[in-house]
Amino acid sequence: MVGIDPKAATKTPPKVVTIRVRRYNPVSGREWWQEYKVETHRGMTVLDALLKIKEEIDHTLVMRYSCRMGVCGSCGMVINGTPRLACQTQIAEVADEANPVITVEPLYNFPVIRDLLTDFTSFFEKHRKVMPYLIRNDREEQEDPKGQYLMSREDYEYLEEFTLCISCGLCYAACPVAAIDPDYLGPQALGYLFRYVIDTRDEAWEMRLKIADDEHGCHRCHYAGTCSMVCPKVVDPAQAIQRLRSILFKYKLGLYRKKKISGISPPPKEWKPRKPLPPEAKPVSSEVDYKKLEEEPVVIEVEDRRITLRHKIYE
Ligand code: SF4
Ligand code: SF4
Ligand code: FES
Repeated sequence: MVGIDPKAATKTPPKVVTIRVRRYNPVSGREWWQEYKVETHRGMTVLDALLKIKEEIDHTLVMRYSCRMGVCGSCGMVINGTPRLACQTQIAEVADEANPVITVEPLYNFPVIRDLLTDFTSFFEKHRKVMPYLIRNDREEQEDPKGQYLMSREDYEYLEEFTLCISCGLCYAACPVAAIDPDYLGPQALGYLFRYVIDTRDEAWEMRLKIADDEHGCHRCHYAGTCSMVCPKVVDPAQAIQRLRSILFKYKLGLYRKKKISGISPPPKEWKPRKPLPPEAKPVSSEVDYKKLEEEPVVIEVEDRRITLRHKIYE
């Protein structure tokens, strides 16, 4: 696994490293490798080094990042040949005095927009295709919620790992099938699909299994496991796909039905309807009509079904 090395931040990196960046200019169509020398300090990450280059040496270098703490999943890039989060990768992990050169490339299997910036449009279309949200048949409860859907601790623990995915795309960049089949749903989307198939609160498991059964679905997986090796959140999408395949196989033989579906339980006693805001409370933005937002239903359309949700705010 390419997890975080907790001791890496305490190691001293080489004084100066050479960052070799694979660059691309969409206007001229030119692709080239560019080298930058960067002075380092203890605790410096690859993202810190790239931002230092951008600030002090070459402001034309393009990359994506946001949280700088391994949460948003936007700084994925290929570092020394392995997909990693740049903000989670210490210089000391990937370079030393004997080899102070770090190569940085845009994520594989994604179209490159510019330099290290990749296009996630198709990746998120696949994510959307697996319907990564709960789907229920009790429309009345959906439209006017009166309770909650509970799941047992064991049922939650069974799927918890798969809720940790931050959609960073590293698994997709490492997947050899995604490299040859651009329509392959990929480890991230299939991991999400599995997570909802086993979620006891979800009732659309048959619809989900049909999506997985597509020619670009779970049957394409070679079970090479590289997706799981690079996941920064230690999710195991390869295992999810194997379990999904096993469920699908049994389902097609008529041997699988989802055993448990959570019913509606009363809301916890401590829930109370929200108290109205005091008159002196000011909205965060004067342009947003919060009252209207609370009143307006949110309509989600899933194939031929229309689900209407209303905001209910509790204390
Ligand atoms: S499964 Fe892991 S590597 Fe893949 S998108 Fe989710 S967090 Fe990233
Ligand atoms: S296990 Fe399947 S999804 Fe994961 S990298 Fe291999 S082929 Fe791709
Ligand atoms: S910047 Fe958010 S995960 Fe790296």
